[in-house]
Amino acid sequence: MDRIRIRGGRPLSGEIKVGGAKNAALPLMAAGMLTDDRLILSNVPRLADIATMTLLLEQHGLAVEPLTEDGRMLSIGGGIANTEAPYDIVRKMRASILVLGPLLARAGEARVSLPGGCSIGTRPVDLHLKGLEQMGARFDLDGGYVDGKVDGRLHGARIVFPFVSVGATENLLMAAALAEGETVLANAAREPEIGDLASCLVAMGARIDGIGTDKLVIQGVDQLHAAEHDIIPDRIETGSYACAAAISGGSVFLRNARLEHLGATVRILREAGVEIAQEDGGLMVTRLNGLHGADVMTEPYPGFPTDMQAQFMALMSVAEGASMVTETIFENRFMHVPELNRMGARINVHGASAIVRGVPCLQGAPVMATDLRASLSLILAGLAARGETVVNRVYHLDRGYEAVEQKLAACGADIERIS
Ligand code: EPZ
Repeated sequence: MDRIRIRGGRPLSGEIKVGGAKNAALPLMAAGMLTDDRLILSNVPRLADIATMTLLLEQHGLAVEPLTEDGRMLSIGGGIANTEAPYDIVRKMRASILVLGPLLARAGEARVSLPGGCSIGTRPVDLHLKGLEQMGARFDLDGGYVDGKVDGRLHGARIVFPFVSVGATENLLMAAALAEGETVLANAAREPEIGDLASCLVAMGARIDGIGTDKLVIQGVDQLHAAEHDIIPDRIETGSYACAAAISGGSVFLRNARLEHLGATVRILREAGVEIAQEDGGLMVTRLNGLHGADVMTEPYPGFPTDMQAQFMALMSVAEGASMVTETIFENRFMHVPELNRMGARINVHGASAIVRGVPCLQGAPVMATDLRASLSLILAGLAARGETVVNRVYHLDRGYEAVEQKLAACGADIERIS
């Protein structure tokens, strides 16, 4: 099992290229099931989750071919030959549930393993199922699988989400694109990845109004056709490396990063003393003076993203003063806290909130990654810590971050992967 070793205390300086957004690429690959024609995706990140989604689509009968040596351009074509998404793939990646809408829309049936929980929460899919039921699907639960059926074709419906769900919005948007009639998705998620999916569906022939708002209105069409789509840059990778520049007291240019995708992250980082400026082709992130504690509450976009919470907590652990970090999206997303505290951070969790009291310096230590974003927060802490930090179980990291050690080493970090 790979580990990553960091010797801290070196301010980062240089350029990091931000890759394609993982959480846009995954639903976009599922959208490839909505037509037998070829969907060509570019700026595809090279991540374990992309490989898992490729496996999933292939076992459904689609052809997923890299069009470039580096695999950053994928062609997704062919029809659905098998409507079952097996447990051994789904358990590795919860986003597998995103094949449910396309399967019902195209094949009228689906047998998808329930994703089960993960370390950050139970991760139910009730909003996905309820919305699809309103569109005419019927579901039975059978041995940990959801068996879905549609008599004839899905039909449009007015769906009001009781709270924002990124995945449910994506699943229902894809199903509505091919449903009979009009679908309204009210209180829809507004994350940039939703807009990216919607614009790709429009390029494939879908009719969608309200893109970028919390109310999507879709007129179903009979079929979708070939398209090419360039995936937006990853805003969470952007925010993560902005925190790396900040925690190390350095200055890094994040190529391809887009300020408008960062939502509240920009305001909060600036409040904490980080300078962020949009320049030609990317963002310049600098931290010259001290860091100050800043309070944050995770919210759906454009609020502060839950996927940035662990990284921000690492940054606040060495800030001047105290910070209150409140996690409102997932029920168990503080597993990085005991690991950060082993490095000398002073963090106390009270239910959904954590109080972070900044300390002058962290101490390197062997730590354990527990989930994707917690892994990155431990690397951030290692960059700032005195001495050596070894992060274990970095397979979590490889699911969502491409070539982290190379990108950081290129900016002067003393970091290496130990197999
Ligand atoms: C997406 O997960 C992202 N994953 C997550 O990123 C991200 O943290 C999350 O959105 C919130 O922004 C992908 O896009 C692949 P939700 P998703 O449905 O769609 C509850 C990462 O690190 N809920 O918006 O699963 C749910 O339990 C990952 O890249 C229901 O109760 O998130 C959670 O508490 C982690 N019923 C809240 O809603 C449902 O049917 C938000 O979940 C669906 C969700």
